[in-house]
Amino acid sequence: PKAQKANQGSGYGLQPVASYKVAILGAGGGIGQPLSLLIKMSPLVSTLNLYDIANVKGVAADLSHCNTPSQVLDFTGPSELGNCLKGVNVVVIPAGVPRKPGMTRDDLFNINANIVKTLVEAVADNCPDAFIHIISNPVNSTVPIAAEVLKQKGVYNPKKLFGVTTLDVVRANTFVAQKKNLKLIDVDVPVVGGHAGITILPLLSKTKPSVTFTDEEVEQLTVRIQNGGTEVVEAKAGAGSATLSMAYAAARFVESSLRALDGDGDVYECAFVQSDLTDLPFFASRIKLGRNGVEALSPSDLTGLTEYEEKALEALKPELKTSIEKGIAFVQKQP
Ligand code: NAD
Ligand code: LMR
Repeated sequence: PKAQKANQGSGYGLQPVASYKVAILGAGGGIGQPLSLLIKMSPLVSTLNLYDIANVKGVAADLSHCNTPSQVLDFTGPSELGNCLKGVNVVVIPAGVPRKPGMTRDDLFNINANIVKTLVEAVADNCPDAFIHIISNPVNSTVPIAAEVLKQKGVYNPKKLFGVTTLDVVRANTFVAQKKNLKLIDVDVPVVGGHAGITILPLLSKTKPSVTFTDEEVEQLTVRIQNGGTEVVEAKAGAGSATLSMAYAAARFVESSLRALDGDGDVYECAFVQSDLTDLPFFASRIKLGRNGVEALSPSDLTGLTEYEEKALEALKPELKTSIEKGIAFVQKQP
């Protein structure tokens, strides 16, 4: 039954209204913990599997006392990873190191590339049919890494592999609503391209509801959205990067994925996916989500752009291309 229908009359806390299984890899971390809490609150989830290389037992014990429907299970270390993934519908991967002030996301490549590769190998072996949400940075490279690993394992489904860029949309919505004095709930700004610096391109001209911006406002908002991650890294002054807003954004993307899996025909999110909208093999844009993952891209997202957006789109392509190729080469070069 569809979630909304099932929701009517089901006692809150007694039964899940749908029974999807979600796994979080890196669940003990700064993103992993609040994300686990938010997913524990979802009525669509029956089982929440938490995996990390350390400290996940306590997180699971703690969360398991919340009187919400899902059962929380903990899995520690590589020997338990396979069991964590069996039968899972959605796998979320926030495992890896975060930035410190002065670093770019690409500076995380050397450590996080290996982490993502190893985890996605296990996903390929244990739940190849799951939606895979990649949060670990640099997303512009870790998603191509995941795709190559899945290809090598013979289980790549481009419709089910997503780089999570929801935080860029969340930030864009917040900053635009503040600047233009709009009701937050109404504002939706598509953000396309990738997830690092100038590759993050908010399409302010396509903001809903329709708003006009001065050239100055466009420049100021675009730069703020592109530097949102760095703003948090600097404020945290060495203690990591965005975790709470990221958990909020990732939970929204998980909830959207579960609604799509559950048959809701009206689910749209921006994500970094395999794409033919540009000449780049991966590109973030608005996608329609369905039971089988990406149901459709929106080519119209890239038509009718302003001159500012056209220029920014051309300017981001070389950097995004380099990051994608770096990810692909990382897997292909391995013996
Ligand atoms: P964190 O250091 O607080 O947590 C990372 C967790 O990953 C830790 O618990 C660690 O034990 C775990 N981990 C490390 N290696 C692992 C492995 N091999 N298997 C399983 N778990 C492993 O970091 P964080 O703040 O949670 O950030 C995690 C990642 O998310 C970073 O790479 C960060 O850059 C990225 N991030 C992405 C976005 C986005 O918008 N996509 C936003 C914020 C952060
Ligand atoms: C973000 O956008 O907050 C994340 O990608 C983390 C970072 O390093 O900025």
